[in-house]
Amino acid sequence: MRRPILLSLAASLPCLFAGAIMAQVGGPGRDAPRLRGPEPFTREVPAPPMQRQITDDIRRRRNYPDQPPLIPHSIEGYALDLNANKCLSCHSRKFTEQSQAPMISVTHYQDRDGNFLGGVAPRRYACLACHVPQTTAQPLVDNLFTDMDALAEPERRSR
Ligand code: HEC
Ligand code: HEC
Repeated sequence: MRRPILLSLAASLPCLFAGAIMAQVGGPGRDAPRLRGPEPFTREVPAPPMQRQITDDIRRRRNYPDQPPLIPHSIEGYALDLNANKCLSCHSRKFTEQSQAPMISVTHYQDRDGNFLGGVAPRRYACLACHVPQTTAQPLVDNLFTDMDALAEPERRSR
């Protein structure tokens, strides 16, 4: 008789956890954005306006040292396919003298085991998988990110 009760308890635990997580995400004042669109779904609403890209050429501070830096310039119309990679025409080692762009870092010339390659590693070819431009859009939910330096500051002062 005991077994089935224990089993059903164990089965309901994941739901309890999921509930607790949902409660944290959707706390007061920070409800997750609706993803379902208008209600009823047959109602047509105008598309939200396109956001303006930030193209001020000012390099953004990284939130942590190995964050892929954000792209501070326009990338409209830049080809990035099997035959052409516009990004490399400025950022590869060969072309930085002409372009005055920061060179892709040494990690982009290493394979996953850290071996150095003669050219850009295939796993770094699709730049936009990691580097993204920014827009003027407001965040959908509050961002509570705290910089590592701010976290370390009280500790440093107490020393
Ligand atoms: C015409 C030359 C040119 C092309 C093409 C180009 N970039 Fe850049 N990029 C620059 C220059 C110059 C900078 C330095 C900041 C500035 O002037 O905008 C830069 C800055 C960056 C940065 C910021 C680096 C940092 O340390 O903050 C990233 C990331 C970047 N580019 C990625 C890309 C990607 C991805 C592409 C292709 C989609 C690309 N760039 C295409 C010239 C170029
Ligand atoms: C798999 C993710 C990934 C891909 C793909 C990738 N990068 Fe990066 N990139 C990073 C990370 C992470 C950093 C910061 C740490 C480092 O230097 O390795 C970085 C750094 C950079 C920097 C700054 C270098 C410096 O020394 O300040 C530039 C410029 C850059 N990448 C351009 C590119 C371009 C252009 C491409 C495409 C040819 C590309 N990256 C592809 C992850 C990536």
